[in-house]
Amino acid sequence: MACLLPAVLASCSGPEPKDKALEAKVEKLLARMTPEEKIGQMNQVSSYGNIEDMSGIIKKGEVGSILNEVDPQRISALQHVAVEESRLGIPLLIARDVIHGFRTIFPIPLGQAASFDPELVEEGARVAAIEASSVGIRWTFAPMIDIARDPRWGRIAEGCGEDTYLTSVMGAAMVRGFQGHALSDPASIAACPKHFVGYGAAEGGRDYASTFIPERLMRNVYLPPFEAAARAGAATYMVSFNDNDGVPSTGNAFTLRQVLRDEWGFDGFVVTDWASATEMVAHGFAADSKEAALKAVQAGIDMEMVSYSFVRHLPELIAEGKVKQSVIDNAVRNILRIKYRLGLFDHPYPDGQQPSVMYAEAHLAAAKKAAVESAILLKNDKETLPLTGKVKTIAIVGPLADAPYEQLGTWVFDGEKTHTQTPLQAIRETAGDKVQVIYEPGLAYSRDKNGAGIARAAAAAARADVVLAFVGEESILSGEAHCLADLNLVGAQSELIAAVARTGKPVVTVVMAGRPLTIGKEADLSAAVLYNFHPGTMGGPAIADLLFGKEVPSGKTPVTFPKTAGQIPVYYAHHNTGRPATRTETLIDRIPVDAGQTSLGNTSFYLDAGFDPLYPFGYGLSYTTFGYSNIRLSSSALKKDDVLSVLFDLENTGKYTATEIAQLYVQDKVASVARPVKELKRFTRVTLEPGEKKTVAFDLPVSELAFWNINMAKVVEPGEFGLWVAGDSQSGEETVFKVID
Ligand code: GLC
Repeated sequence: MACLLPAVLASCSGPEPKDKALEAKVEKLLARMTPEEKIGQMNQVSSYGNIEDMSGIIKKGEVGSILNEVDPQRISALQHVAVEESRLGIPLLIARDVIHGFRTIFPIPLGQAASFDPELVEEGARVAAIEASSVGIRWTFAPMIDIARDPRWGRIAEGCGEDTYLTSVMGAAMVRGFQGHALSDPASIAACPKHFVGYGAAEGGRDYASTFIPERLMRNVYLPPFEAAARAGAATYMVSFNDNDGVPSTGNAFTLRQVLRDEWGFDGFVVTDWASATEMVAHGFAADSKEAALKAVQAGIDMEMVSYSFVRHLPELIAEGKVKQSVIDNAVRNILRIKYRLGLFDHPYPDGQQPSVMYAEAHLAAAKKAAVESAILLKNDKETLPLTGKVKTIAIVGPLADAPYEQLGTWVFDGEKTHTQTPLQAIRETAGDKVQVIYEPGLAYSRDKNGAGIARAAAAAARADVVLAFVGEESILSGEAHCLADLNLVGAQSELIAAVARTGKPVVTVVMAGRPLTIGKEADLSAAVLYNFHPGTMGGPAIADLLFGKEVPSGKTPVTFPKTAGQIPVYYAHHNTGRPATRTETLIDRIPVDAGQTSLGNTSFYLDAGFDPLYPFGYGLSYTTFGYSNIRLSSSALKKDDVLSVLFDLENTGKYTATEIAQLYVQDKVASVARPVKELKRFTRVTLEPGEKKTVAFDLPVSELAFWNINMAKVVEPGEFGLWVAGDSQSGEETVFKVID
């Protein structure tokens, strides 16, 4: 299916139309609420103790939402207190981080993004919603759609990578999956695009660090995925921890009121991140928790997560005239509106289905499909893969071959490792008695520096026809607050690969990680490299099917892989600069001794790393090969309200039926501000038999070439544009067209 952002968004559930009857219910209830009950709705509490411990504040109407409660009996009991024992019976909104699955765990979102398959991602979110809602959870803190161009940042694992268009499409798909066709469906859960906004640009790739994103970059790169989520009907938003140029997102009226409300017409509610309201004191943006409450609510925060400054200080701030009652009333309206849309007043209790839906066959099948499509083949010399009948003995080494918890990846609270199917298990099952499998991990876990077991792994490799080396990161090495300054394989994993490579046997390196790793050295020693961003519950069967050729890899890199951390930030949609790299610059080992003082190369590159990354954005191999030809445009001169149709022929020039992710990139060559050398504007998955050729079409409204320009206006500027259709961001021949006034 050609992935057309407007069409995709048009099919979204979309922002709920104004429902007069619902609004009347909101007003009627609001009018009956006391000031304390109103502020109570703005208070979110993390579940603690036993039901009695929380009953008091719930009865008094001092809690609007509870997070981190997943026991259906406890949720039911808490909800009964709210509905039957509080004065107005307003149901609680139960929330959880259901980021890439509830019990059935899908690949981490960065892996799902590698599939470039929004329908697959929507299905994964739907499965998560069905499983989570069955215990009474009706709100997830997802999708995380922070653009991330720095793999040192641990939370790159949680988003959809570096690209604005890909993240916009995937984020909207997740919103649709979580919220379904009706938020009131008991199996639907409210989405919460996060972290609003710019969090992924944290200085130095260090979590929670400051960002410095000027408005134009914010509007052209970081905001669009959140706008796409709003157009898909996202019910709530969560702000981010970072301050942008000194303004914490929790206190940023420009993003929360001008952009989200006034420009996008969002009418749901906004929640802080964990204690991000009172953390404005640490930011030096508020003198104390009272001023933090003032700044947060004035900026546009509707609900405070766990730091209690609203319930403690808003009554006083209102009494002092520093906060208008209307500000409180609007925040409460937003919260009540979503509770009504969720149908919580009609069906507040879990439906008791939970045992049957967890790990349902259909859910596991969807998770396996996602793991298959998320895998990226980065190298495959001499057609090492797929493993054929000639392979009689396989040596499996590495600490991630049989690591059921690590394979699930970050942000997994409720997935159970006992349900994980690991590569070792799946390969043994696939091999059966036809192929001998020798398993020698060599290391106990990814950070293991004790190389005592490496000799045994090398001995196993020497006895095998092929070595499968499962390396990467333990789950805990990515995710929130888990940033790395060094992206090389941790522990003695590199030594392990070197040792098995020295046997001369072909090594297939299979990586499971939460981010791109600088694996250039290990890739050079490997005949093949299959990269999986922590693939989830069904990662084992998926990888086994890929290795044995039952499935063919189709994934593409959703983020650029640097050669070395020193290259960061490195991403494809960069500006050309006045001295762009020629990409053939002299490298440090080729500079003559006693070289005279020159500016050598005179272009933007590294003496010790050149310019190009290890792998570019949008890159991934297949067991077959694809040919692109005959690119033709509907017109070479278009007006601003035209639609450009791009047709091209795609041929499977190899011997396996396979799927290619064809990508359309555009460059605005001259504009009122410098524009990126390329921007992804369309992509589509095309499956072809060997020898099959198909004409593929992309339709691109010229209006989608609009950007925020020198006057901070979102416009399409006339002029010349470059266009590429290819299988990655670095390939393809340029075609030129013009936009005319
Ligand atoms: C965390 C995360 C946020 C998450 C929230 C609730 O600190 O930043 O993404 O949803 O707290 O767990």
